[in-house]
Amino acid sequence: MLTTEKPNISIVKSETSKLVESDPSDLIFGKDFTDHMAICEFRNGSWGPMSIVPYGDISMNPGTSTLHYGQSVFEGMKAYKDKGGRVRLFRPTENARRINISAQRLCMPEIPEEMFMTALTELIRLDAKWVPAKEGCSLYIRPFIFADEVFLGVKPSTKYKFMIICSPASNYYKGPVRVRVERQYSRAVEGGVGYAKAAGNYAAALYPSSLAAKEGYQQLIWTDSREHKYIEEAGTMNVMFVFGDVLVTPSVENETILAGITRDSVIHLAKDLGYKVEERKISVDELVEAHKAGQLNDAFGMGTAANITIIESIGVDGIDLSLPPVEQRTVSTKIAKTLSDIKYGNIKDPYGWIEEI
Ligand SMILES: Cc1ncc(COP(=O)(O)O)c(C=O)c1O
Repeated sequence: MLTTEKPNISIVKSETSKLVESDPSDLIFGKDFTDHMAICEFRNGSWGPMSIVPYGDISMNPGTSTLHYGQSVFEGMKAYKDKGGRVRLFRPTENARRINISAQRLCMPEIPEEMFMTALTELIRLDAKWVPAKEGCSLYIRPFIFADEVFLGVKPSTKYKFMIICSPASNYYKGPVRVRVERQYSRAVEGGVGYAKAAGNYAAALYPSSLAAKEGYQQLIWTDSREHKYIEEAGTMNVMFVFGDVLVTPSVENETILAGITRDSVIHLAKDLGYKVEERKISVDELVEAHKAGQLNDAFGMGTAANITIIESIGVDGIDLSLPPVEQRTVSTKIAKTLSDIKYGNIKDPYGWIEEI
């Protein structure tokens, strides 16, 4: 094993690579992992040295508190390869910022942005050959922090691990999706942890999502937990509708919605492409009325894993609202293309969103 020391990070290289050349479009999301991972421990009130080591299992005592009380937060981001083979990260400092917002809410220590970025860039540099050289494919990057103390009392852990693992990925959804408005279960409540990328949020969504899947819907559209009247987000995507020619998306003010980096990027792009964008409350009734009036011209989900995913139909109280065919979705198609062109370096990035490795 080859060990190198860089400032603030030690690197132990894997002697062999697991990489198999194959068509990246066939990749199953989150199944294969790259050759290395980053790891750092929080002990005695501070983060220790950052290391990059060969990817592998970590051992865990059954009494480790994260297994019992769920102090665990994560991020999802991607690296893209341009036509010249250069690797590009999309708005990585936003993920560094957001993991700390999540950590703060779960009473966990924040990871300094510089440590996050050093670990990230060194890891991606080392595993750069794993970034698929095909548009539509990318390297999914999963930074996470979890409680690492062996203790069964309910209290914030005193020990944590920060890690980054990576997995080559193609598109999460292979085409437009059918979604259903959820009127019974909730993902998030006011005062809760909906705005954090907390592991438990995803566990809580699994059962209602599985019920919707049995009815043929790939995702739920969550509604507010008080009245189940207002739209929040669609599974692991933020959601946007086009009423007439105005783009409308739920505002993230009341902290029940994860403030997506893709959402923020889409808002910027849409405004610069000349569209009017509104961030506000959207009721399910407004959606139904707009559909009835022939004004619901487009609807799509946005997220790092899902990119821009066109919504084919929306199930509301037993009735499916069908949306225009994909060929007529000029808004989502145009925004998706511009965003993708920036990520893959087909056009200049006027926003400073890209960090080349
Ligand atoms: C619940 C939820 N909402 C929205 C998003 C979209 O966020 P982003 O665009 O930052 O990936 C995600 C995905 O990370 C998510 O898990």
